[in-house]
Amino acid sequence: MFTSNHGGNIREAAALAGVNPETLIDFSANINPLGMPATLKRALRENLELAQRYPDPDYVALHQALAKHHQVPQRWLMAGNGETELIFQLLAHLAPRHALLLTPGFAEYRRALSRVGCRISDYPLTEADGWQPDDRLVAALTADLDCLILCTPNNPTGLMPDRRLMQAIVSRCAELGITLVVDEAFIDFMPNAAGCTGWLAENPHLWVLRSLTKFYAIPGLRLGYVINSDEQRVAALRAGREPWTINAFAALAGEIVLNDEAYQQATFQWLETERPFLLQALNALPEITVWQGEANYLFFRYDGDKDLQRGLLAQRILIRSCANYPGLDKRYFRVAVKSRADNEALITAFTDISRDTNRGA
Ligand SMILES: Cc1ncc(COP(=O)(O)O)c(C=O)c1O
Repeated sequence: MFTSNHGGNIREAAALAGVNPETLIDFSANINPLGMPATLKRALRENLELAQRYPDPDYVALHQALAKHHQVPQRWLMAGNGETELIFQLLAHLAPRHALLLTPGFAEYRRALSRVGCRISDYPLTEADGWQPDDRLVAALTADLDCLILCTPNNPTGLMPDRRLMQAIVSRCAELGITLVVDEAFIDFMPNAAGCTGWLAENPHLWVLRSLTKFYAIPGLRLGYVINSDEQRVAALRAGREPWTINAFAALAGEIVLNDEAYQQATFQWLETERPFLLQALNALPEITVWQGEANYLFFRYDGDKDLQRGLLAQRILIRSCANYPGLDKRYFRVAVKSRADNEALITAFTDISRDTNRGA
Protein backbone atom coordinates (compact mmCIF):
# COMPACT_ATOMS: atom_id res chain seq x y z
CA MET A 1 0.00 0.00 0.00
CA PHE A 2 2.88 2.39 0.78
CA THR A 3 5.82 3.45 -1.32
CA SER A 4 7.83 4.19 1.84
CA ASN A 5 10.48 1.68 3.00
CA HIS A 6 9.93 2.49 6.66
CA GLY A 7 7.34 3.14 9.31
CA GLY A 8 6.55 6.67 10.42
CA ASN A 9 5.46 8.09 7.09
CA ILE A 10 2.30 9.71 8.41
CA ARG A 11 2.10 12.14 5.51
CA GLU A 12 1.70 9.30 3.00
CA ALA A 13 -0.67 7.33 5.25
CA ALA A 14 -2.85 10.36 5.95
CA ALA A 15 -3.07 11.17 2.23
CA LEU A 16 -4.19 7.57 1.55
CA ALA A 17 -6.79 7.73 4.30
CA GLY A 18 -7.84 11.25 3.32
CA VAL A 19 -7.29 12.58 6.83
CA ASN A 20 -5.13 15.14 8.58
CA PRO A 21 -1.75 13.53 9.56
CA GLU A 22 -2.10 15.05 13.04
CA THR A 23 -5.17 12.92 13.69
CA LEU A 24 -3.40 9.59 13.05
CA ILE A 25 -2.13 7.40 15.87
CA ASP A 26 1.21 6.21 14.58
CA PHE A 27 2.14 2.68 15.66
CA SER A 28 4.44 2.27 12.67
CA ALA A 29 7.50 4.11 14.08
CA ASN A 30 8.94 2.87 17.36
CA ILE A 31 9.33 6.12 19.23
CA ASN A 32 9.12 6.56 23.00
CA PRO A 33 5.60 7.90 23.67
CA LEU A 34 6.83 9.92 26.67
CA GLY A 35 8.08 12.43 24.10
CA MET A 36 11.44 14.15 24.31
CA PRO A 37 12.78 14.68 27.84
CA ALA A 38 11.63 17.93 29.49
CA THR A 39 15.27 18.67 30.32
CA LEU A 40 16.05 18.65 26.60
CA LYS A 41 13.03 20.73 25.65
CA ARG A 42 14.11 23.39 28.12
CA ALA A 43 17.70 23.34 26.91
CA LEU A 44 16.62 23.69 23.29
CA ARG A 45 14.41 26.66 24.11
CA GLU A 46 17.21 28.29 26.07
CA ASN A 47 19.82 27.73 23.37
CA LEU A 48 18.13 28.82 20.16
CA GLU A 49 21.03 31.12 19.38
CA LEU A 50 23.19 28.03 18.74
CA ALA A 51 21.68 28.08 15.25
CA GLN A 52 23.65 31.27 14.58
CA ARG A 53 27.07 29.65 14.61
CA TYR A 54 28.73 26.54 13.25
CA PRO A 55 28.77 23.53 15.54
CA ASP A 56 32.18 22.31 16.76
CA PRO A 57 33.39 20.24 13.77
CA ASP A 58 34.91 17.71 16.19
CA TYR A 59 31.87 17.66 18.50
CA VAL A 60 34.19 17.31 21.47
CA ALA A 61 31.57 17.93 24.18
CA LEU A 62 29.18 15.47 22.53
CA HIS A 63 31.85 12.79 22.16
CA GLN A 64 32.90 13.33 25.77
CA ALA A 65 29.31 12.82 26.95
CA LEU A 66 28.95 9.62 24.90
CA ALA A 67 32.35 8.34 26.06
CA LYS A 68 31.46 8.99 29.70
CA HIS A 69 28.17 7.16 29.27
CA HIS A 70 29.93 4.06 27.91
CA GLN A 71 33.10 4.40 29.98
CA VAL A 72 35.26 4.25 26.84
CA PRO A 73 37.84 6.64 25.38
CA GLN A 74 36.21 9.28 23.21
CA ARG A 75 38.61 8.30 20.42
CA TRP A 76 36.51 5.12 20.07
CA LEU A 77 33.44 7.07 19.11
CA MET A 78 31.95 8.92 16.22
CA ALA A 79 28.55 10.58 16.44
CA GLY A 80 26.33 11.06 13.42
CA ASN A 81 23.18 12.69 12.14
CA GLY A 82 21.09 9.71 13.27
CA GLU A 83 22.36 6.15 13.15
CA THR A 84 21.27 5.86 9.53
CA GLU A 85 23.96 8.28 8.39
CA LEU A 86 26.53 6.15 10.21
CA ILE A 87 25.34 2.89 8.66
CA PHE A 88 26.10 4.41 5.26
CA GLN A 89 29.37 6.07 6.33
CA LEU A 90 30.69 3.03 8.13
CA LEU A 91 29.91 0.60 5.34
CA ALA A 92 31.35 2.99 2.75
CA HIS A 93 34.50 3.18 4.87
CA LEU A 94 34.77 -0.57 5.46
CA ALA A 95 33.86 -1.30 1.81
CA PRO A 96 33.28 -5.02 2.40
CA ARG A 97 33.30 -7.39 -0.58
CA HIS A 98 30.91 -10.04 0.71
CA ALA A 99 28.47 -9.48 3.58
CA LEU A 100 26.00 -11.74 5.34
CA LEU A 101 22.63 -10.23 6.31
CA LEU A 102 19.96 -11.87 8.42
CA THR A 103 16.43 -11.70 7.05
CA PRO A 104 14.08 -10.23 8.05
CA GLY A 105 16.16 -7.20 9.02
CA PHE A 106 16.41 -3.42 8.80
CA ALA A 107 16.42 -2.31 5.14
CA GLU A 108 19.22 0.24 5.23
CA TYR A 109 22.09 -2.26 5.63
CA ARG A 110 21.26 -3.69 2.22
CA ARG A 111 21.03 -0.27 0.61
CA ALA A 112 24.31 0.87 2.14
CA LEU A 113 26.11 -2.34 1.10
CA SER A 114 24.70 -2.17 -2.41
CA ARG A 115 25.97 1.37 -2.73
CA VAL A 116 29.56 0.13 -2.31
CA GLY A 117 29.04 -2.79 -4.70
CA CYS A 118 29.20 -5.40 -1.94
CA ARG A 119 27.96 -8.91 -2.68
CA ILE A 120 25.21 -9.81 -0.19
CA SER A 121 24.27 -13.27 1.03
CA ASP A 122 21.12 -13.74 3.06
CA TYR A 123 20.80 -15.88 6.16
CA PRO A 124 17.08 -16.53 6.62
CA LEU A 125 15.59 -16.53 10.08
CA THR A 126 12.45 -18.64 10.03
CA GLU A 127 9.20 -18.79 11.89
CA ALA A 128 9.87 -22.46 12.63
CA ASP A 129 12.97 -21.34 14.57
CA GLY A 130 11.02 -18.61 16.36
CA TRP A 131 12.82 -16.01 14.16
CA GLN A 132 15.95 -16.55 16.23
CA PRO A 133 19.44 -17.44 15.02
CA ASP A 134 21.25 -20.40 16.59
CA ASP A 135 24.56 -22.26 16.22
CA ARG A 136 23.89 -22.79 12.52
CA LEU A 137 24.69 -19.11 12.05
CA VAL A 138 28.18 -19.67 13.51
CA ALA A 139 28.64 -22.56 11.08
CA ALA A 140 27.49 -20.35 8.20
CA LEU A 141 30.37 -17.94 8.87
CA THR A 142 33.01 -18.84 6.33
CA ALA A 143 36.27 -17.32 5.14
CA ASP A 144 34.72 -15.96 1.95
CA LEU A 145 32.72 -13.46 4.04
CA ASP A 146 34.26 -10.23 5.29
CA CYS A 147 31.25 -8.61 6.98
CA LEU A 148 28.32 -9.69 9.14
CA ILE A 149 25.60 -7.29 10.27
CA LEU A 150 23.36 -8.13 13.21
CA CYS A 151 20.59 -6.11 14.80
CA THR A 152 20.06 -6.76 18.51
CA PRO A 153 17.23 -6.61 19.38
CA ASN A 154 16.22 -7.31 15.82
CA ASN A 155 13.94 -5.12 13.78
CA PRO A 156 11.15 -6.13 13.06
CA THR A 157 10.94 -9.07 15.49
CA GLY A 158 12.11 -7.33 18.68
CA LEU A 159 13.95 -10.52 19.63
CA MET A 160 17.35 -10.62 21.27
CA PRO A 161 19.73 -13.42 20.29
CA ASP A 162 21.11 -15.66 22.97
CA ARG A 163 24.14 -14.06 24.66
CA ARG A 164 26.26 -17.20 24.44
CA LEU A 165 25.54 -17.31 20.70
CA MET A 166 26.57 -13.67 20.35
CA GLN A 167 29.83 -14.45 22.09
CA ALA A 168 30.46 -17.37 19.73
CA ILE A 169 29.74 -15.13 16.74
CA VAL A 170 32.13 -12.44 17.97
CA SER A 171 34.89 -15.07 18.37
CA ARG A 172 34.24 -16.79 15.05
CA CYS A 173 34.29 -13.45 13.22
CA ALA A 174 37.65 -12.66 14.86
CA GLU A 175 39.09 -16.02 13.75
CA LEU A 176 37.96 -15.54 10.16
CA GLY A 177 38.75 -11.82 9.85
CA ILE A 178 35.08 -10.93 9.42
CA THR A 179 34.07 -7.41 10.44
CA LEU A 180 31.07 -7.62 12.75
CA VAL A 181 28.65 -4.69 12.81
CA VAL A 182 26.05 -4.85 15.58
CA ASP A 183 23.12 -2.45 15.46
CA GLU A 184 21.88 -1.75 18.99
CA ALA A 185 19.41 0.99 18.00
CA PHE A 186 16.76 -0.31 20.41
CA ILE A 187 18.86 -1.78 23.20
CA ASP A 188 18.37 1.22 25.50
CA PHE A 189 14.81 -0.02 25.97
CA MET A 190 16.22 -3.15 27.63
CA PRO A 191 17.64 -2.00 30.98
CA ASN A 192 19.11 -5.42 31.75
CA ALA A 193 20.70 -6.16 28.38
CA ALA A 194 24.49 -5.93 28.42
CA GLY A 195 24.83 -5.64 24.63
CA CYS A 196 28.18 -5.83 22.88
CA THR A 197 29.95 -2.68 24.06
CA GLY A 198 31.72 -4.58 26.86
CA TRP A 199 33.44 -6.73 24.23
CA LEU A 200 34.81 -3.82 22.18
CA ALA A 201 38.19 -3.53 23.87
CA GLU A 202 39.19 -7.11 23.02
CA ASN A 203 37.58 -7.11 19.61
CA PRO A 204 38.72 -4.41 17.19
CA HIS A 205 36.74 -6.14 14.42
CA LEU A 206 33.50 -5.25 16.26
CA TRP A 207 31.56 -2.06 15.48
CA VAL A 208 28.54 -1.14 17.58
CA LEU A 209 25.94 1.26 16.20
CA ARG A 210 23.57 3.13 18.50
CA SER A 211 20.65 5.49 17.99
CA LEU A 212 19.28 8.06 20.43
CA THR A 213 16.27 8.91 18.29
CA LYS A 214 13.94 6.17 19.50
CA PHE A 215 14.52 6.08 23.25
CA TYR A 216 14.69 9.86 23.62
CA ALA A 217 11.94 10.53 21.06
CA ILE A 218 14.03 12.78 18.82
CA PRO A 219 13.75 11.21 15.35
CA GLY A 220 13.28 14.69 13.87
CA LEU A 221 16.38 16.02 15.62
CA ARG A 222 18.54 12.98 14.57
CA LEU A 223 21.43 11.59 16.63
CA GLY A 224 23.33 8.31 16.66
CA TYR A 225 26.89 7.07 17.13
CA VAL A 226 29.25 4.25 16.35
CA ILE A 227 31.86 2.73 18.68
CA ASN A 228 34.97 0.70 17.87
CA SER A 229 38.20 0.15 19.79
CA ASP A 230 40.60 0.55 16.84
CA GLU A 231 41.45 4.20 17.36
CA GLN A 232 43.21 4.56 14.02
CA ARG A 233 40.23 3.15 12.19
CA VAL A 234 37.86 5.49 14.01
CA ALA A 235 40.19 8.43 13.28
CA ALA A 236 40.13 7.49 9.58
CA LEU A 237 36.35 7.26 9.67
CA ARG A 238 36.15 10.68 11.30
CA ALA A 239 38.64 12.16 8.85
CA GLY A 240 36.59 11.00 5.89
CA ARG A 241 33.34 12.54 6.95
CA GLU A 242 31.65 15.69 5.77
CA PRO A 243 31.78 18.56 8.29
CA TRP A 244 28.87 19.67 10.53
CA THR A 245 26.42 16.90 9.64
CA ILE A 246 25.10 16.94 13.23
CA ASN A 247 23.18 20.14 13.86
CA ALA A 248 23.89 22.13 17.01
CA PHE A 249 20.62 21.15 18.69
CA ALA A 250 21.15 17.44 18.15
CA ALA A 251 24.69 17.78 19.53
CA LEU A 252 23.30 19.59 22.56
CA ALA A 253 20.70 16.81 22.98
CA GLY A 254 23.48 14.23 23.22
CA GLU A 255 25.12 16.22 25.99
CA ILE A 256 21.88 16.32 27.99
CA VAL A 257 19.72 13.24 27.55
CA LEU A 258 22.15 10.58 28.71
CA ASN A 259 22.20 12.24 32.14
CA ASP A 260 18.42 12.27 32.48
CA GLU A 261 17.98 9.32 34.78
CA ALA A 262 14.44 10.29 35.76
CA TYR A 263 13.38 10.07 32.10
CA GLN A 264 15.16 6.75 31.66
CA GLN A 265 13.43 5.29 34.72
CA ALA A 266 10.03 6.62 33.60
CA THR A 267 10.57 4.95 30.23
CA PHE A 268 11.45 1.60 31.82
CA GLN A 269 8.36 1.81 34.03
CA TRP A 270 6.07 2.65 31.11
CA LEU A 271 7.44 -0.23 29.02
CA GLU A 272 7.32 -2.71 31.87
CA THR A 273 3.58 -2.09 32.13
CA GLU A 274 2.55 -1.42 28.56
CA ARG A 275 4.41 -4.10 26.62
CA PRO A 276 2.85 -6.99 28.58
CA PHE A 277 -0.54 -5.23 28.35
CA LEU A 278 -0.34 -4.93 24.57
CA LEU A 279 1.17 -8.38 24.13
CA GLN A 280 -1.60 -10.01 26.11
CA ALA A 281 -4.36 -8.02 24.41
CA LEU A 282 -3.01 -8.90 20.95
CA ASN A 283 -2.59 -12.52 21.95
CA ALA A 284 -6.22 -12.65 22.98
CA LEU A 285 -7.33 -11.83 19.41
CA PRO A 286 -8.09 -15.03 17.53
CA GLU A 287 -6.34 -14.26 14.22
CA ILE A 288 -3.13 -12.99 15.74
CA THR A 289 0.11 -14.70 16.73
CA VAL A 290 2.52 -12.39 18.57
CA TRP A 291 6.20 -12.96 19.33
CA GLN A 292 7.53 -12.05 22.74
CA GLY A 293 9.70 -9.12 21.66
CA GLU A 294 11.94 -7.45 24.20
CA ALA A 295 12.02 -3.97 22.68
CA ASN A 296 9.43 -1.20 22.48
CA TYR A 297 7.55 -2.85 19.61
CA LEU A 298 5.82 -6.15 18.89
CA PHE A 299 5.87 -8.32 15.80
CA PHE A 300 2.88 -10.45 14.84
CA ARG A 301 1.23 -12.55 12.16
CA TYR A 302 -2.36 -11.90 11.16
CA ASP A 303 -4.30 -14.82 9.74
CA GLY A 304 -7.60 -13.04 9.17
CA ASP A 305 -8.91 -12.24 5.72
CA LYS A 306 -9.17 -8.45 6.05
CA ASP A 307 -6.77 -5.81 4.74
CA LEU A 308 -5.62 -5.11 8.27
CA GLN A 309 -3.49 -2.07 7.58
CA ARG A 310 -6.18 -0.40 5.50
CA GLY A 311 -8.90 -1.34 7.99
CA LEU A 312 -6.97 0.21 10.85
CA LEU A 313 -6.08 3.25 8.79
CA ALA A 314 -9.80 3.83 8.24
CA GLN A 315 -9.90 4.13 12.04
CA ARG A 316 -6.93 6.53 11.95
CA ILE A 317 -4.44 4.00 13.20
CA LEU A 318 -1.22 3.42 11.29
CA ILE A 319 0.65 0.13 11.75
CA ARG A 320 3.74 -1.15 9.96
CA SER A 321 3.14 -3.80 7.34
CA CYS A 322 6.23 -6.02 7.13
CA ALA A 323 5.36 -7.27 3.62
CA ASN A 324 8.39 -5.45 2.16
CA TYR A 325 10.93 -7.13 4.46
CA PRO A 326 12.81 -9.89 2.62
CA GLY A 327 11.68 -13.19 4.13
CA LEU A 328 8.24 -11.92 5.21
CA ASP A 329 4.90 -11.45 3.48
CA LYS A 330 1.71 -9.50 3.91
CA ARG A 331 0.59 -11.49 6.95
CA TYR A 332 3.30 -9.91 9.13
CA PHE A 333 3.09 -6.62 10.99
CA ARG A 334 4.91 -4.60 13.61
CA VAL A 335 3.39 -2.20 16.12
CA ALA A 336 5.06 0.17 18.55
CA VAL A 337 4.15 -0.04 22.21
CA LYS A 338 2.53 3.29 23.01
CA SER A 339 0.56 4.93 25.84
CA ARG A 340 -2.25 2.97 27.53
CA ALA A 341 -4.90 5.10 25.75
CA ASP A 342 -3.32 4.52 22.33
CA ASN A 343 -2.76 0.82 22.98
CA GLU A 344 -6.40 0.48 23.96
CA ALA A 345 -7.47 2.34 20.83
CA LEU A 346 -5.47 -0.15 18.76
CA ILE A 347 -7.03 -3.15 20.48
CA THR A 348 -10.54 -1.69 20.11
CA ALA A 349 -9.98 -1.11 16.41
CA PHE A 350 -8.56 -4.63 16.00
CA THR A 351 -11.52 -6.10 17.82
CA ASP A 352 -13.92 -4.29 15.46
CA ILE A 353 -12.11 -5.63 12.42
CA SER A 354 -11.91 -9.10 13.91
CA ARG A 355 -15.63 -9.07 14.74
CA ASP A 356 -16.38 -8.16 11.11
CA THR A 357 -14.12 -11.02 10.02
CA ASN A 358 -16.00 -13.53 12.13
CA ARG A 359 -19.37 -12.20 10.99
CA GLY A 360 -18.25 -12.51 7.37
CA ALA A 361 -17.04 -16.10 7.87
C1 LIG B 1 17.24 -1.25 13.47
C2 LIG B 1 17.39 0.21 13.19
N1 LIG B 1 18.62 0.75 13.14
C3 LIG B 1 18.79 2.06 12.90
C4 LIG B 1 17.73 2.89 12.67
C5 LIG B 1 17.99 4.33 12.37
O1 LIG B 1 17.87 5.15 13.46
P1 LIG B 1 18.15 6.71 13.38
O2 LIG B 1 16.84 7.40 13.56
O3 LIG B 1 19.10 6.97 14.51
O4 LIG B 1 18.76 7.01 12.06
C6 LIG B 1 16.44 2.38 12.70
C7 LIG B 1 15.29 3.26 12.43
O5 LIG B 1 14.18 2.85 12.29
C8 LIG B 1 16.26 1.00 12.97
O6 LIG B 1 15.05 0.45 13.00
